[in-house]
Amino acid sequence: MDNDFSYIKKGDIYLDSACQAMRPQPVIDALNNYYRKHNSCGERVKYPWGQETDRLVEATRAKVLRYLKLSPRKYFVSFTLNTTYGLNLLLSQFDCKGAGIKRVVTSDIEHNSPFLSTMAIAKRAKIPRVVLTRDIDGSLPIEKIPEHALVVVNAASNIDGRLLVNIKDVIKTVHKKSGFVIIDAAQAMAHSSEILHKTEADAICFSAHKMYAPSLGGMVVRRDLVKYIDTSFIGGGMVDDVDKETYLLSSDNKEHLYTKFESGLQAWGEIVALGAAIDWLNDLPKSAHLKLAEQSKRLHDYLAEHPKIHLVGAADNIATTMSFYVDGTDSHLLGAALADEGIMARTGYFCVHYYLDHVCHYPPLIRFSLGYHTRESDIDTVIKILDKLK
Ligand SMILES: Cc1ncc(COP(=O)(O)O)c(C=O)c1O
Repeated sequence: MDNDFSYIKKGDIYLDSACQAMRPQPVIDALNNYYRKHNSCGERVKYPWGQETDRLVEATRAKVLRYLKLSPRKYFVSFTLNTTYGLNLLLSQFDCKGAGIKRVVTSDIEHNSPFLSTMAIAKRAKIPRVVLTRDIDGSLPIEKIPEHALVVVNAASNIDGRLLVNIKDVIKTVHKKSGFVIIDAAQAMAHSSEILHKTEADAICFSAHKMYAPSLGGMVVRRDLVKYIDTSFIGGGMVDDVDKETYLLSSDNKEHLYTKFESGLQAWGEIVALGAAIDWLNDLPKSAHLKLAEQSKRLHDYLAEHPKIHLVGAADNIATTMSFYVDGTDSHLLGAALADEGIMARTGYFCVHYYLDHVCHYPPLIRFSLGYHTRESDIDTVIKILDKLK
């Protein structure tokens, strides 16, 4: 496994996996292989390169569902640009009236991606938007979820990796109250995918680039949600026939439901390489998970005990992502100083402006996010440098 990242230079300490993971060699090889051996458009061509692309793209759709332990009888997979795009495709075309939706609900710790797109749907559908406060353990207060709500929340936070620990109860409750749940799984897919297993969410949006795959978005959508999608983002690749003023959507055929969200030419090579990333994640040895958990705990415990560092979140929440600020030190300046030492970390509010700035009133933060590529020596170096601030 370590060999899969052997291209990373010794002094380069990449701690920004929450933005996009380092890609293991087999994923890079799969993308290269597509360009060099079967560069072709999927679903439209009859020559052998296209057939190979079609085979691998279909395999990736199946792998995504297996990875989440979801049945192809209930769900289908579409590809798009990223989580933000997937959420917007769903929300901007969601027929709230037809679905009986009276409120859109999100939470205080959301990334701007669901935070802003829920503002947009509330405005378009002229319904109230409710922002619930998540508990420090990441759970959503289910007793506060109203009837007939469209709930859009993350399964894992990009601030500190806190999980939607009551995800199953949330979904059950929302459904009982005649609502729908869309999960932002951007941060959950790589290191916390178990939380999504067998969930009965109506849709799950994710970013392949955060799960060791190339830049790409994925949407896992319940087949019966499609009847509430009022298609308006439309073009090539989505229709079987077109007359002067009418058209026949390919997604009317339930074998091709995924075309509902796939307008225009898709990122075929990236989709194929996502398949390779899922294989790679599935094949990781237990020792790789243990190593990452130990490294995360070591760095978390060090930050928690540092006399000048304030970690965000619950003290017992150990995750691969951790955010903090340092007394008397500007995070952006510190970020630049860390960069001088080869440490690549994020600074600011990480697109969670509402919670971090307006609710918690934190100064800009620093975020470290580890991945399977992280070396023990990376943590040693970070600790050695942060020791100087004591
Ligand atoms: C929790 C969460 N949701 C949504 C997003 C948006 O992802 P993307 O920029 O890939 O659309 C991110 C990105 O960091 C995220 O961490």
